[in-house]
Amino acid sequence: MIDALLSSPPRGMAGEDRLRCIDLFCGIGGFHTAAVNCGLEVVFASDIDEEARAAYRHNYGIEPVGDIVQVKAEDIPDHDILLAGFPCQPFSIIGGMAGTEDARGRLFLEILRIVRAKRPRGIVLENVKQLATAQHGSVLRHIIDDLQDMGYTTDWRILNALDLGLPQKRERVIIVATLPKFDRFPWPTAKLPMKPLEEILEKDPASRFFVSETIRAKRHAAHKASVTPSVWHENKAGHISSYPYSCALRAGASYNYLLVNGERRFTPREMLRLQGFPDTFEIVSSDSQTRKQAGNAVPVPIAEAGIRGVLDVLRRSTTTGKRE
Ligand SMILES: C[S@@+](CC[C@H](N)C(=O)[O-])C[C@H]1O[C@@H](n2cnc3c(N)ncnc32)[C@H](O)[C@@H]1O
Repeated sequence: MIDALLSSPPRGMAGEDRLRCIDLFCGIGGFHTAAVNCGLEVVFASDIDEEARAAYRHNYGIEPVGDIVQVKAEDIPDHDILLAGFPCQPFSIIGGMAGTEDARGRLFLEILRIVRAKRPRGIVLENVKQLATAQHGSVLRHIIDDLQDMGYTTDWRILNALDLGLPQKRERVIIVATLPKFDRFPWPTAKLPMKPLEEILEKDPASRFFVSETIRAKRHAAHKASVTPSVWHENKAGHISSYPYSCALRAGASYNYLLVNGERRFTPREMLRLQGFPDTFEIVSSDSQTRKQAGNAVPVPIAEAGIRGVLDVLRRSTTTGKRE
């Protein structure tokens, strides 16, 4: 059946067969939104965080299961493509670079366990840029080597949301793997024009998003922006810089590290927009939970770039008759 599904573009029409994917460490579904945009059907999701699961269920009508460590591979439905943005705190600068010594840093082994049992034809994994260098790149190497030992052709690249149309500088490692062989993975080649910040910003944000007059005055005494609107970023040393786009949103960052025009924080809706979520995504959690969820998410266009590339490889392998 997979041949029939791949020989035409993903259709996405109600009642028609679509390629099936699963969304591991699903959060609020950056991969889910991207997968649906690419015409895929999501048949299984998992996240340990109850609030994220509630938002996912509300928006996509799928009940994610909890801790993936407890899930037997045979209880996961068969699927064509596995998607996973595995926990990144252990590899991020913010997370202290604890790497695999932190139990969360070993969760990639769960992905490999599921791949071994289910053998999806395509895989897209996402993590912070530091995965490429953490522990001298050994985690990335481990993932790539295991996938290759299982017969997959692999590639990885650092993609930046800023190059894919979003006004957020957010660099992420995307690892792709397919059972059909490819010589050159079709990564995006052209940069997309950035959506202007004005289109992200809400017109009349509530007063709770504005900082105190003391903080505002301190910021404005220390820095003058050359463009408006701009996002002011204060680094750990207290240095302030501003850009017509946001620096990377973070799940657990201090409250005022990013300020619009040096005077207010992003609203939850703006944070979701900065990650590429459409306004049809309904917010069901508190401000602080949504901030965490948005800060954890994969930017939708980055997820889409990986998925579209994998679909392209699968499609080409079917049309040229090359079957692995
Ligand atoms: C980097 S976030 C992924 C976000 C997601 N890709 C999105 O677009 O929202 C990692 C997620 O892994 C989840 N997680 C951590 N440990 C887990 C476990 N043992 N089982 C399932 N999910 C887990 C966290 O709750 C978090 O939502």
